[in-house]
Amino acid sequence: MAVSSFVPLQKLKEVFRIDGEELLRFQKPQVIRDNKNAWKKDEEFAKEMLAGVNPVKICCLQDWPIKSKVDGTICKISEDDIQKNLEGLSVGQAINNKKLFILDYYDDFIPYLRLINTTAAEDISSKVHPRAYATRTVLLLKNDGTLKPLAIELSLPQEAQFDGTPPQVYLPPEEGAEEWTWMLTKAYVVVNDSSYHQLISHWLQTHAVVEPF
Ligand SMILES: [Fe+2]
Repeated sequence: MAVSSFVPLQKLKEVFRIDGEELLRFQKPQVIRDNKNAWKKDEEFAKEMLAGVNPVKICCLQDWPIKSKVDGTICKISEDDIQKNLEGLSVGQAINNKKLFILDYYDDFIPYLRLINTTAAEDISSKVHPRAYATRTVLLLKNDGTLKPLAIELSLPQEAQFDGTPPQVYLPPEEGAEEWTWMLTKAYVVVNDSSYHQLISHWLQTHAVVEPF
């Protein structure tokens, strides 16, 4: 069977370049082909929740306020935080119209953050500097059909090791230095998303389910 019968010719041409470019020098991903900073956009951040490695976690937001099933705590993202970006809807209307979505990793990560944030080299009883948070991201399905992140909450276990730091809510910045804080906050979400993909969606729910049989 010819390779071209199961690999599209266009893909073969991208790998085995005949246009003078180096062999195995791949084309730029479409997202940065026209604008090399496009990956920084909120639109791309939200798109990757559906078109990225782990599209199975994002879901329609049905209950407000958002509550943990693990410890019963209420999410700190308030109506005031997101109201101005709801395209004229109230939070209740947006929920009823299935316009609000959530990527909620609080319950999945909060029980393990103490271990994740403590390396073997550190005394487990000493104060630690967080490397990971449990994140919640609330998004709006806009009228143009794209998703827009409205607010991100970062949480740590309420233990002495973390100074009992309360959850922090971050909002899309208008401009300036806050843009980098927002970028870092989005990075913590992506860390949750890719870690959950590797260990839960991929390993646990596929390999660990099928391979014992
Ligand atoms: Fe695999």
